[in-house]
Amino acid sequence: MINNLPRSRGSVRSHGRNLLVFGVVGAFVAAGLVALAGTASAATTLGASAAERGRYFGTAVAANRLNESDYVNTLNAEFNSVTPENEMKWDALEPSQGSFNFGNADRITSHAQSRGMRIRGHTLVWHSQLPGWVSGLGTTQLRSAMNNHITTVMRHWQGRIHSWDVVNEAFQDGGSGARRSSPFQDRLGNGFIEEAFRTARAADPTAKLCYNDYNTDGANAKSNAVFAMVQDFRNRGVPIDCVGFQSHFNAQSPVPSDYRQNLQRFANLGVDVQITELDIEGSGTSQANNYRTVVDACLAVSRCTGITVWGVTDKYSWRSGGTPLLFDGNYNKKAAYNSVLTALGGTPGGGGGGGGGGGGCTVSYTETQRWGDRFNGQVTVRAGSSAINGWTTTVTVTPPQQVSATWNGSPSWDTSGNVMTMRPNGNGNLAAGASTTFGFTVMANGTWSAPTLGSCTAS
Ligand code: G3I
Repeated sequence: MINNLPRSRGSVRSHGRNLLVFGVVGAFVAAGLVALAGTASAATTLGASAAERGRYFGTAVAANRLNESDYVNTLNAEFNSVTPENEMKWDALEPSQGSFNFGNADRITSHAQSRGMRIRGHTLVWHSQLPGWVSGLGTTQLRSAMNNHITTVMRHWQGRIHSWDVVNEAFQDGGSGARRSSPFQDRLGNGFIEEAFRTARAADPTAKLCYNDYNTDGANAKSNAVFAMVQDFRNRGVPIDCVGFQSHFNAQSPVPSDYRQNLQRFANLGVDVQITELDIEGSGTSQANNYRTVVDACLAVSRCTGITVWGVTDKYSWRSGGTPLLFDGNYNKKAAYNSVLTALGGTPGGGGGGGGGGGGCTVSYTETQRWGDRFNGQVTVRAGSSAINGWTTTVTVTPPQQVSATWNGSPSWDTSGNVMTMRPNGNGNLAAGASTTFGFTVMANGTWSAPTLGSCTAS
């Protein structure tokens, strides 16, 4: 059942690895070799639990916190997608015209990529955090500056960002349903949004293109206006793939009772929906229940592809006084955390984790090689503070990617063919702190996102 594999097959063999080659995953499924469907979840982290439900669970990340070990350990252990909180905004990337500074954002994308986390891009065209020089431009120069910004930024991370917030917060609050005044709106008119999306598609055809906004989380004048725009784009073939619902909630702006229905009506237009900046002020049971409502709503909408919370810890939240996140200022898991994990089908209190402490095991991902049509990934499995006799983890690829070969592990597949569960192939016994690796080749089929790892379960 070996089909015409790319050149890597020979090179992998020549390295003497114990290679197992797959043809079409569907054929493998048909051969009855899939062991996983319907097994109980053993996931103990947000990211791994979400991955088992076919979704990502991400967080906003600030580059200047990546030196803090508790921050990084929590990020690495719990989340499988990141959104740079400020580092990809216009003022950060192009502070003066034509002069781009990718350094801080690259720190975040490198961190994420080396660990198999996905990346959301935020945001290309927004009225806020816009450097002064943009507001000073006339119509023609503004149009070309906008298109140049989109193109340069998207090409920098081409193939590495799963979804981009192309346009952010372009509509007014209140009952008018009108567009918000901004240099783009005021000089380029309503057509600026369409133009931005068309430019974005040309710049990186692999990224999903999102419109992102707040106070659009239930049906109201503002969300109705966004809905009409998305419907019009879909009808006219303007490229749009997803709508982001920021979901910043507090007592004045609670989770709307029609939250799920609102996600669903957008999904029915043929776009994905994503919860992009979730935070809910409060504490204890009521905060936990509100988080559960949001997660349940996403799980009930098949096109809701992932959830991002707007920060790792209450300590660094943009509204820290409202303690709106899942980890407190000392990185303790809050009731809201357990509520989210349980809603995702995970098991609170498990070892999980990326810190390497305790028993169990941890996993980390590195891309080791890339060709024009495919790449090799390597997963390191490391035992915690006790010896283990076996390990299991999952590797989820993004369709239309396909795993074409694996080595140093025994794989099995879910029915979608996207989730590979890997178990040892003679390398299950690990002393405390010791590690082993397994590897695989992914045929990109035009999509270069890194695979997502589930948690590691030891036996
Ligand atoms: O980095 C500087 C620091 O050097 C300086 O000393 C300090 C003094 O003011 O400012 C620091 O920059 C701040 C930056 O956050 C980093 O902390 C900016 O002033 C501050 O305005 C900026 O706030 C960000 C805000 O967007 C700006 O509009 C928040 O972190 C960020 O969470 C927030 O995120 C937005 C989303 O992008 C869009 N949706 C709403 C969401 C919440 O407002």
